[in-house]
Amino acid sequence: MSGRIPREFIDDIIARTDIIEVIDSRVRLKKAGRNHQACCPFHDEKSPSFTVSQDKQFYHCFGCGAHGNVISFLMEFDRLEFPEAIEELAQYHSIEVPREKGGAPPPSAEQKQQKESDYELMEKVAKYFAQQLKVHPDKDKAVNYLKNRGLSGEIVKAFDMGFAPPEWDSVLKTFGISPVYQEQLLDLKLITENDNRRRFDFFRDRIMFPIREKRGRVIGFGGRVLDDGGPKYLNSPETRIFHKGHELYGFYQAKQAHRNLARVMIVEGYMDVVALGQFGIDYAVASLGTATTAEHIQMLFRATSEIVCCYDGDRAGREAAWRALENALPFLKDGVEMKFLFLPDGEDPDTLVRKIGKETFEEKLKNDSVPLSKFFFDNLLQRHHVSSNEGKAALKAEAIPLIEQIVGDNIREILLSDLSNYMGDQNKHKLERDIAQANQRKNPKKLDFNTPNKSTISPVRMMIRLLLDDPGLAIKCSAADPTPLVSVDIPGMAMLIELYQFCLAKPLANTAQVLEHFRGHAQSAQLAKLMMWEYAEQNQTAVFEDSFAKLLDWHLQSRMDELFSKSRVSKLTNEEKQELNLLIKEQR
Ligand code: UTP
Ligand code: MN
Repeated sequence: MSGRIPREFIDDIIARTDIIEVIDSRVRLKKAGRNHQACCPFHDEKSPSFTVSQDKQFYHCFGCGAHGNVISFLMEFDRLEFPEAIEELAQYHSIEVPREKGGAPPPSAEQKQQKESDYELMEKVAKYFAQQLKVHPDKDKAVNYLKNRGLSGEIVKAFDMGFAPPEWDSVLKTFGISPVYQEQLLDLKLITENDNRRRFDFFRDRIMFPIREKRGRVIGFGGRVLDDGGPKYLNSPETRIFHKGHELYGFYQAKQAHRNLARVMIVEGYMDVVALGQFGIDYAVASLGTATTAEHIQMLFRATSEIVCCYDGDRAGREAAWRALENALPFLKDGVEMKFLFLPDGEDPDTLVRKIGKETFEEKLKNDSVPLSKFFFDNLLQRHHVSSNEGKAALKAEAIPLIEQIVGDNIREILLSDLSNYMGDQNKHKLERDIAQANQRKNPKKLDFNTPNKSTISPVRMMIRLLLDDPGLAIKCSAADPTPLVSVDIPGMAMLIELYQFCLAKPLANTAQVLEHFRGHAQSAQLAKLMMWEYAEQNQTAVFEDSFAKLLDWHLQSRMDELFSKSRVSKLTNEEKQELNLLIKEQR
């Protein structure tokens, strides 16, 4: 970890940068009214729905929902990490990125060099393993194994597969030519040290699968035994450049094969990816002996709009699929699709594609894969029996919190309406209420972005949006300070107050800077969503104050209702009576 980049610097660099210039140098933009447009670089489309606003220094795609400021754009488009995106902008302006003291030190030139040198060494070792298939005295054993598995020479080459020699010290001797190099080999877990401080190769007598990260650099290995001995697969342990939960075997190769990936298939094994590739199904990836993580799903949905999870039909396979589903829910936006293909007993993609070939396999993919919504209920209904009311209650209790995580309004509604069907008629009414509530929690006062309409937006959201457009409003409208309403239970209230406070402190910030401040905030997606809503920009001060007045009215009215209903069933305390009197007076 490196020292933090100071917030002021991030603010400053956003202020210096024109998002139009940065995006235009990567994606040709056309002026369209007040905005700029292009075909979206983040999904496949024929007519432009990618819009960039110069005023707000913000981009947004009406097709796939991609959005953000210039930093987000660089992260997504250039596939950079956050600090790398800042570095990129700093370079563009020829300035240095300062780092805060304390915490971990910044990545020094030395550390950067270290990383480069790590990648270089990993690549060399991968080449070495590949070469052993040609030169090692035991090469026949390895080559025959590959042949017996039906692998072609081309596919072995395409995936840079190799052979780790059986000796204890092949890698150690070849690459550990000085103490410094040996340390690096240890760090990268290519060699191991035992309790007696003896050092030896980590991978021995195995078929090797180099694992490349999304930009193609080798960061780790998987190694398979040639016979039945030992653990079948060994994977590189975590290192400073290898983090299993973030990587997918075959993703780089799939992206190389397709500039735009229409679909990605997730399978369980290295061998499956390679065999599928050999048969022309060159869009398969495998997680590295771990479950499919949220990071995996997020990474894939940045590159494709369709994920098919292809697992064993047995219990373990279904459990793995369910975990993948759970991890995918927060990334299900409208326009993406996730499906599940369960294979017949005893088959994996490797054996199956060899039996039936590409065409039939892809037909199966088309005809036999189950949509997420179906797998979702198949799984839940196995555990909860809707023939009893208790079962229905349990189904609902498990389903609603899962469905609520989905960001895509349409997908969410489909699942909610399916749920309502399973709940049966007499429960329908109550469920509809719960659904309305769930929807509201997810998306308070639903906004219809296609037909923007002033009356569909709640006062809270209106105020948030106005502040995003002009943070200076907070100071201008100090009589409309929402902070005293902090304990009022209205969706978005906490966000509004937080934003208002921020704007008080930074009245001169632009939209991109405000959004930057809330990067990673639990509600940041909601903020971005509000940015897509269009309204007639006129007299914002009046609209802000008017919205606040509405909010206050609404609050006073509901508090009054609450006290009235309480008074019907029990006695009000003296304070409550006083409050009610005040409220009644206020209303007159
Ligand atoms: P499988 O046992 O299903 O192997 O493991 P496979 O891919 O079909 O391999 P072959 O066909 O026997 O060669 C699936 C994945 O689980 C991880 C590996 O990533 C493997 O590709 N795994 C499996 C391990 O990490 N360690 C093991 O011992 C076994
Ligand atoms: Mn297999």
